[in-house]
Amino acid sequence: MLILGIDSSCDDMCAAVVRDGREILSNVVSSQEGIHSRYGGVVPELASRRHLETVLPVVEEALRLSGLKLEEIDGIGVTYGPGLIVSLLVGLSFAKALSLASSIPFVGINHLEGHIAIAFLKGLEPPFVALLASGGHTLLCRVDDIGRYTLLGQTRDDAAGEAFDKVAKLLDLGYPGGPRIDALSKEGDREAIPFPRPHMSRKDLDFSFSGIKTAVLRYVQGLEGDVEARKADIVASFQEAVVEVLVEKTIRACKGSKLERAFVTGGVAANSRLRERFLERAKEEGIEVLLPEIPFCTDNGVMIAVAAYHHLKRGERSPYDLTAIPNLML
Ligand code: KG4
Ligand code: ZN
Repeated sequence: MLILGIDSSCDDMCAAVVRDGREILSNVVSSQEGIHSRYGGVVPELASRRHLETVLPVVEEALRLSGLKLEEIDGIGVTYGPGLIVSLLVGLSFAKALSLASSIPFVGINHLEGHIAIAFLKGLEPPFVALLASGGHTLLCRVDDIGRYTLLGQTRDDAAGEAFDKVAKLLDLGYPGGPRIDALSKEGDREAIPFPRPHMSRKDLDFSFSGIKTAVLRYVQGLEGDVEARKADIVASFQEAVVEVLVEKTIRACKGSKLERAFVTGGVAANSRLRERFLERAKEEGIEVLLPEIPFCTDNGVMIAVAAYHHLKRGERSPYDLTAIPNLML
């Protein structure tokens, strides 16, 4: 089965072609980083307008790179939520029109399920624990199959990626904050400042990242001006605190569910310190942890194509009046 996957949930336009949920034939991502970086965050109207310009060329490029013609595609998967409504509508409307014009069936995909579907692309056998840490979400769930998820914990306020982005903004590092903090942290001392590890001592598997962002703000205010010289130490210490909470709660989730496999995904899974600590701690605890390559942690069309493959294979289809749902849950 040859599936075209399309994602326009936030500021990237993504399209990919995947065979049988396992073999990637093409993967195209058109980033809007250059448009939004000067604003310190995504400007929805600019994102939406740019999507309108890029959706057709990105899909055409994905088809061209796959070596296939549209007629050879068996199904179309498209993100219908969660995300920015004005961004979602572009990809969803385009996919519906393409499906209608070509008579290729389409299925709406939950973006969060898409991130998890990368585990199936990589052949990780369920059941496993998945940590999804992105710019909009941070959650832990048990995965028994595509479509069978049990939520174990989630953030009560900010997402982990959001905390990275807000701390970067506060320190004038630009957007997106994650990769910039990751890079600058390499020059800092991660033990320099003992930022709080929010929710670490609590038994539940929920997260909270707004307090640590405030702790960074207070620390910066307390420096009374001399921030530049301490920036690397601040971000390295902040990153260490976030990483520790994410890693330890995931390990706790595995132990509590008696599962020996964990999957880590979402943009924050691209963080080099998080990846290093996950591998160290998983080894110590006898847990197998799968960290996908960075392009499969951040948003991509492959994840949507893989999830769509599993749904279409079961005969599932979406109606043409499917609407975009900005706050769709897993
Ligand atoms: O999954 P994603 O591409 O989009 C959403 O679905 O949100 O995640 C984007 C988030 C942003 O907050 C970005 O700052 C963060 O992932 N991120 C990182 C890194 N790369 C991206 N956070 C920490 N370290 C990184 N290397
Ligand atoms: Zn995402």
